[in-house]
Amino acid sequence: MWKGYDSLPSYFGGKRKLARRIMSHAEGEVFIDAFLGGGSVSLLAKARGFKVICNDISERSRMVGKAIVENKNTKLTDYDVYSLFKETENKFIRETYPNLLLEKDIQFIDNAFANAKTDLQKLLLIKFLAKYKPFGMLSNKIPKDLETCNIKVIKPHIKYMYKPVRALEQIKDHINYGIFDNGKDNEFHQKDVFDFLENVQGDTVYFDPPYAGSQSYEEFYNILDSILVQKKIHVEKSKFNSDDAEKFLHKLLEKSMHIKKVIFSFGGPQIDGQKLLSIVQQHRPAELYEIQHKWAITASDEQMQTATEILVVSK
Ligand SMILES: C[S@@+](CC[C@H](N)C(=O)[O-])C[C@H]1O[C@@H](n2cnc3c(N)ncnc32)[C@H](O)[C@@H]1O
Repeated sequence: MWKGYDSLPSYFGGKRKLARRIMSHAEGEVFIDAFLGGGSVSLLAKARGFKVICNDISERSRMVGKAIVENKNTKLTDYDVYSLFKETENKFIRETYPNLLLEKDIQFIDNAFANAKTDLQKLLLIKFLAKYKPFGMLSNKIPKDLETCNIKVIKPHIKYMYKPVRALEQIKDHINYGIFDNGKDNEFHQKDVFDFLENVQGDTVYFDPPYAGSQSYEEFYNILDSILVQKKIHVEKSKFNSDDAEKFLHKLLEKSMHIKKVIFSFGGPQIDGQKLLSIVQQHRPAELYEIQHKWAITASDEQMQTATEILVVSK
């Protein structure tokens, strides 16, 4: 069984379960993933031999794009794991989010991030953190509680990092499953999507933008993003979460007229498939596919939820 997805972080709104359906519509040799997110669709496209050109504005996705999609043969080594344990003076998380983890563990994580020199090592640490603190707990909502709560109230929900080296070694192997050479020079870009579309050339473009009315990625992952750059980031919500998001969907379609095939996916409780189809049809002939899909994680909690996911594919 293909274990490539084990290399990727869990991602809110990630399309791991839909990736095969999405890729069944892809044409040509160059696949463009304009909103990379957690990387599931790009990784499958890479495994299927496409040249992948992916993009996302966020640092968390840059880490995935560089460490996994672009990377042909640099694997994580034991040294990459052991070098994370060196003592440093770093206190970023301790000082910025003092209740994020238990004290001893926070010290280890602060050291580890100061020692992490490569995107692969950062990916290793993010997957490690998610093992002890599910991604929802890195969201903006929970830490507000964490900041105000007594540690005794939170403690039962936080697992101690028992023998981190063993867990890290195991995650290292999982990440290495996703690193392979598909014979193409795959690319990651970290741009606003409209700047990215100006110059990109390819056969199929896949759009999975944030959805209007849903929680913004910038809020949900603010702590994770801040930890990655080791500085507190001010939340700036994506324009695709705004009330006039529809206008940006039209702009995506206008800016991608030079690409033969367009695939859109949309999800969430209030998605109106017919409306989205009619938006795309104002630019090109298109078809609608409605798929019942279970979300791996949600903004509100960690439980599986069934939702309808919509694909709109140009003809
Ligand atoms: C729905 S997620 C993509 C999920 C991805 N398909 C997966 O399977 O993991 C949307 C992504 O759009 C990115 N994003 C939001 N606004 C953007 C913009 N203006 N330009 C580029 N990326 C943007 C977010 O950082 C987020 O990762």
